[in-house]
Amino acid sequence: MSARDERAEIIPYRDGPLVVRGPFVLLDEDGREIDAGRRTVALCRCGRSQLRPFCDGSHRRARYRAEGGVSPDAERRHPLRGD
Ligand code: FES
Repeated sequence: MSARDERAEIIPYRDGPLVVRGPFVLLDEDGREIDAGRRTVALCRCGRSQLRPFCDGSHRRARYRAEGGVSPDAERRHPLRGD
């Protein structure tokens, strides 16, 4: 098993959700586990889903737009960055 197989991948899709693949634990803000029921899930990042935190496809109707990768200055502006 490679290191890549042992961790989750989180992929921000252009104009869509964050897709999580691999072993992960999904928690609410109080630390309670949310049963995702599978190893691959799409997490809403547009705020329109009725199934939050999961994507229900509402981003398409909302014409949500977001880059698929890293924003040009995300490194500099990341709010949780430790330094
Ligand atoms: S990203 Fe799909 S419903 Fe929000």
